[in-house]
Amino acid sequence: MKTRTGISMGSWLGVAALAVVAAVLAPPAQALDWVGAPVAEVQLFYPGQFSWEKSLMAASHRGAAKMRSGAPCGGCHRNDAARLGQRAAQRDGYRERSAVTVQVRALLAGDRLHLQISGPLLHGKAPAVSLLLGDATLKATAQAGCWASCHDDAPGMASDAGAGLGKYLNASRSKLTPGGGGTSVRPPAELAQALARGEFLELLEVAPTGQGARGYVLASLLRQPLADGAVMRSEGERWIAELSRPLASAGEGQIALAAGKVYHLGIALHDTGGSGRQHLVSFAKSLAIGGGKADIVAPGA
Ligand code: HEC
Repeated sequence: MKTRTGISMGSWLGVAALAVVAAVLAPPAQALDWVGAPVAEVQLFYPGQFSWEKSLMAASHRGAAKMRSGAPCGGCHRNDAARLGQRAAQRDGYRERSAVTVQVRALLAGDRLHLQISGPLLHGKAPAVSLLLGDATLKATAQAGCWASCHDDAPGMASDAGAGLGKYLNASRSKLTPGGGGTSVRPPAELAQALARGEFLELLEVAPTGQGARGYVLASLLRQPLADGAVMRSEGERWIAELSRPLASAGEGQIALAAGKVYHLGIALHDTGGSGRQHLVSFAKSLAIGGGKADIVAPGA
């Protein structure tokens, strides 16, 4: 079974087989008290072919100059997700919803961080939900969230040359161009150093079936199925996704989360039937662990 390779939606099929095993082995779900967790409203929109590189160039983005000096996307783009999504969807002929608002809550229980994301079903179906999480080492996370990994040469993007490049971070490439970093992947020793410094984005996701996956992005997206810690259910007209992970890092590509610290994440939804870049994404949102000030606050246990 392919587990640590690409990002094809097809890999969910193999993953689903494991879900059956996981459902049998999983301990009884612990009841979580979400009532004390504040609700954050997060807007997502259809981004079309708007890549990290496009955001840096004046020809494609009026915010380019300030982007280059480090301004965060969300500082300029407040409440315009619906408009941006509609415009990009029109340009692409993308026919599903082009923007949606989801509700996000976080809390700590025991030694784990729990995240709950919910939103309206589309045609009665739940989407696949992904989070990309980074710590302060990776400055692009706080600035741009998912866009840190979204390049112009990815499948379906403007500079896609058919190389099948998925998500990657600039830190993994030696040659950065307006068309992306291409295949200029740094040698393994340099990638290992970047990982050790914390220059990666951690991925958590849950499929419409409820099967979870966890992984990270540096030179590419690597992921493995989660044995437990992911749930997808629907209530009335809404889907509710829950994802959890231990605060501690158990190895490569996992962020050691500490109480009192703030991290940044981006959220992506793939509505059923969509592929690759046919998704809705958020700008970067801050996440405070154990209380504090942020877009999303995970109160302590
Ligand atoms: C300094 C302010 C500023 C920053 C920072 C900024 N933008 Fe923009 N952005 C603008 C302005 C101004 C426009 C043009 C007005 C519009 O289209 O609404 C724009 C347009 C866009 C568009 C529409 C482009 C089109 O042709 O349809 C997208 C998508 C977008 N920005 C995404 C981003 C993303 C993603 C980031 C961060 C990686 C970002 N912006 C950062 C100011 C900014």
